[in-house]
Amino acid sequence: MSSDEQLERDFIDELLMRAILSALAAGDMLVNERAGDLEIDSKGAPTDVVTVMDRRSEELLADHLLSGRESDGILGEEGASVDGTSGVRWIVDPIDGTVNYMYRLPEWAVSIAAELDGEVVAGVVHAPALGETFVAGKGKGAALHKQGVQRKLVVNQAPSMDRALVATGFGYDVGRRKKQASVVAEVIPQVRDIRRAGAASVDICSLAAGRVDAYYERGLKPWDHAAAGLIAQEAGATIGGLDGQPAGEDFYLAAPEPLFSDLSELLARLDAASD
Ligand code: IPD
Ligand code: CA
Repeated sequence: MSSDEQLERDFIDELLMRAILSALAAGDMLVNERAGDLEIDSKGAPTDVVTVMDRRSEELLADHLLSGRESDGILGEEGASVDGTSGVRWIVDPIDGTVNYMYRLPEWAVSIAAELDGEVVAGVVHAPALGETFVAGKGKGAALHKQGVQRKLVVNQAPSMDRALVATGFGYDVGRRKKQASVVAEVIPQVRDIRRAGAASVDICSLAAGRVDAYYERGLKPWDHAAAGLIAQEAGATIGGLDGQPAGEDFYLAAPEPLFSDLSELLARLDAASD
């Protein structure tokens, strides 16, 4: 390995460590300082909610991530948006799975990705109520830390489509949800079953951990998938959109091959990348 490559690897480790420590701090705050009144506001659709805790978590993350690295950029779901000049940009979801957090369901997470020159190189998805922290660095594999034990993550060997357990999610816009429901009605008879946990980052990490075989959704934003996508990729998943498009807001599909190709064909036939 050249010394430049070694320097880059060390830098990725440094970014990953900063992301882990920040996610742990936000997770502790979200568990220990949960407000009695979550002061709910809605953004756009009435079901798309933000709580005072989403905002506090994003503020804490910005403080931690940028402390001593003031020239980095940051993009956060609750409004943080700075390009920065260092080549590093943090992509954060201060609470992914806000509705689960509100209802005290355990599937919610703090998600942090570090982009270096436009490429995600480190990712952390910390799910305090599950006691789980998923991490990955580019080219270094993915791991799950739980109860002091570290486990390397590898996706399941792809089952045939009719044996696949498929996770998905639904957007907040009513028109989009209707279409997503009609797509899922066509998918469910063709697969083992469907799971809807309520937090895209946790779903994608569940794929990395072999708890589901595939995940798809239309309408994800970068903060929903940036960290978890690296984790799933490092665990062996193929990630993409439909019809050869890159994964993104139009469509996000993740699964090991050849299941990825089979699902991609089915979902394209169902016109799942449109509303
Ligand atoms: C949502 C969750 C949900 C997914 C939605 C996301 P939020 O994020 O990840 O599972 O289906 O598309 O918007 O609003 O809880 O941060
Ligand atoms: Ca969120």
